[in-house]
Amino acid sequence: IRDDYDEVTNYVANYVKERIRQFNPTTENPFVIGLPTGSSPVSVYKVLVEMYKAGDINFENVVTFNMDEYVGLPRDHPESYHSFMWKNLFMHVNIKPENVHILDGNAPDLDEECKKFEAEIARVGGIELFLGGIGPDGHIAFNEPGSSLTSRTRVKTLAYETIIANARFFDGDVSKVPKLALTVGVATVMDAREVLVIITGAHKAIALANCIEGGVNHMWTVSAIQMHPKGLIVCDEDATLEL
Ligand code: GLP
Repeated sequence: IRDDYDEVTNYVANYVKERIRQFNPTTENPFVIGLPTGSSPVSVYKVLVEMYKAGDINFENVVTFNMDEYVGLPRDHPESYHSFMWKNLFMHVNIKPENVHILDGNAPDLDEECKKFEAEIARVGGIELFLGGIGPDGHIAFNEPGSSLTSRTRVKTLAYETIIANARFFDGDVSKVPKLALTVGVATVMDAREVLVIITGAHKAIALANCIEGGVNHMWTVSAIQMHPKGLIVCDEDATLEL
């Protein structure tokens, strides 16, 4: 628990930096990280970019897998997760474009796209550290309430609650928010050797309480972290209101 969002940001950015440093990645043995979008990680990415510019972190041998992407939104749409990641992180650091993996929400065969993504994760030896955020309904990636805790990467219909929450990125217009997304599954996240979830703000207090004080439950999919041998939640004071 950290005082506020800024403290959470600094903690997480430093954590990522240290983990990459300790791992000491090479071309043959890269550091594989799972990454989220949303407002929670925006400042973390900003700090990572500053660290990169100061010579404190190197992305040359880092391989990334993003959690999710909207279906049907053009890749270069400002709100696609593809655009988000390049704008907030990738274009500012020395990551190799071939090391970036983001699901293609416009692939002709979406099921095949999801299978390819899982196969690629397996091919590189699995994910070392998965960073995540949650929705106010406790979803991780786009694993909406009711998602199987053994789910893998797949097409998912967004919950109405999520569509409302994400309308702020689409001129507040619910009708502009895509209704489908591709998302890693709960099991895809939990297969990572380490999982770190950022939870900040009073609007996520109920979700945090269900996540760590409720039972492991497919209605609050982030609660699966309770079963993880190396799961870490970094939250601010506001998010702890219901604990
Ligand atoms: C979306 C993403 C999630 C993210 C959530 C919370 O639904 N698919 O991965 O955790 O938003 O976003 P924010 O951090 O903006 O609250």
